[in-house]
Amino acid sequence: MSSKFYVTTPIYYVNDKPHIGHAYTTILADCLARYHRTAGDEVFFLTGLDEHGQKVQQAAEKRGMSPQAHCDDLAPRFTDLWKKLGIQYDDFVRTTQDRHKKIVQAALQKVYDNGDVYEAEYEGWYSVAEERFITDTEKESGQFRDVQRLKEKNYFFKMSKYQKKLIEYIETHPEFIQPQHRKNEILGFLRQPLGDLCISRPKSRLSWGIEIPFAKDYVTYVWFDALINYISIPGWGSDEKKFKKWWPANVHLIGKDILTTHCVYWPTMLFSLGLPLPKTVFAHGWWLIGETKMSKSLGNVINPLDLVDKYGEDAVRYYLMRDMVLGDDANFTLENFIHRYNSDLANDFGNLLNRVSGLLNKHFEGCIPESFVSEKLIHTTHEVGRRLWQEAQIHINSFKIHEAIKTIMSLVQVANSSLEKEAPWKLIKEGNKAAAGHCLYTAAEALRLSAVALNPIMPGKTKIVLDVLGAEGTGLKWGELKSGTKLKLHEALFPRIEVEKK
Ligand code: MSP
Repeated sequence: MSSKFYVTTPIYYVNDKPHIGHAYTTILADCLARYHRTAGDEVFFLTGLDEHGQKVQQAAEKRGMSPQAHCDDLAPRFTDLWKKLGIQYDDFVRTTQDRHKKIVQAALQKVYDNGDVYEAEYEGWYSVAEERFITDTEKESGQFRDVQRLKEKNYFFKMSKYQKKLIEYIETHPEFIQPQHRKNEILGFLRQPLGDLCISRPKSRLSWGIEIPFAKDYVTYVWFDALINYISIPGWGSDEKKFKKWWPANVHLIGKDILTTHCVYWPTMLFSLGLPLPKTVFAHGWWLIGETKMSKSLGNVINPLDLVDKYGEDAVRYYLMRDMVLGDDANFTLENFIHRYNSDLANDFGNLLNRVSGLLNKHFEGCIPESFVSEKLIHTTHEVGRRLWQEAQIHINSFKIHEAIKTIMSLVQVANSSLEKEAPWKLIKEGNKAAAGHCLYTAAEALRLSAVALNPIMPGKTKIVLDVLGAEGTGLKWGELKSGTKLKLHEALFPRIEVEKK
């Protein structure tokens, strides 16, 4: 049964060019979106840029540019990278767009009219890097950069009012915060009294933001502005029909460092606006180098573009999806990448194509042979394909994309080893061409099925495989490969990466 699937990524700060952290979540969202499209669901995949706030203003100042010119200059670096990585989003939000700004103002006004906003004098430590006020203990921890002492009048959102409701909601909706240990983390956080949220910044200190409709000397706190993108773009306050269709989102994909904003700030804002909460907020872990997070400020970030230029976007997508257990941290090394590439892509997947097309060219004039199997056998092999897909889908629906890939790759491995076992070249020598044909048909069909199932992960290379087999547009049923089809010529799908021994 088809349904709708609305998936989001965080919207990224435009203070520098994109890095692997941004690329990872965006590829993940793209793979999920593509799987759902394959399954016949209607999909809305939203990503974009977070362009307001002090960080962006400072980055622009450093470059001697106006914040808007700075954002306009950097935005294409993100969209160009997404194009290069094969990302098929349905909409791309930039928070400086009018369609977003006016909705943020409408939301502020609504929260204000509900009596959920008050004015107060506040004195405290402010971390520019985190874009929020921090406590004395946090300041003393020394973990925060760019800390300033601030005393100012501001507007506060009564987040504390919704604390009890939020706890109840989380406890009764186990799918809301995933994985489970992140849910426990948030429930632990909510055991302490919840403060209210400062949602304004005086223009005298920060001018780069959305003006507060009921306080013209203030701009909106960047997180209040940014989170609203998840509803402003699907039409809240502008296109009720569209909004009804898509909201609530099926999943907000985020990194674990922005859990509190998504699982405490955002739901309380939605409560105040009288809107349902997203079905799931899924927090993934970090890509690490050794023990440390890959990050721009530490200078240990591998530019995903470099890997893409060298090894192709599909290999990078495959590695990132296959090697991170969703929810846990993962170690990024070039050795791991090369190992994964050589074993799964060159030796297993690429090699299956080589063998199938090589043997068919040699013994069957480059055509897909007849498959002489009994009804019973067709039935059982069909079952294998069907079960495989069902299993992969269960994994995908429970955010175990690495398991889904493993399942699909098991078909590739089975096909390779059955070729070795049944040795069609020997069967030919023995004069049993029909049996060799059947064996090769089965291997080619397994290759076709795995290409269809891996298409969301590696859209480019799997398209080549389907093209070679003359099977574009085929689906996940066993036996869709047409006997008699002439294979197209092809180059090595994933040429082995030779590593020099030290
Ligand atoms: N603008 C906010 C999000 C607003 S959403 C309404 C923001 N932007 S960000 O540019 O800092 O992007 C952060 C995202 O990148 C987070 O989800 C973060 O977890 C992710 N990553 C940054 N470095 C990362 C790794 N080394 N590994 C994986 N993801 C990490 O926060």
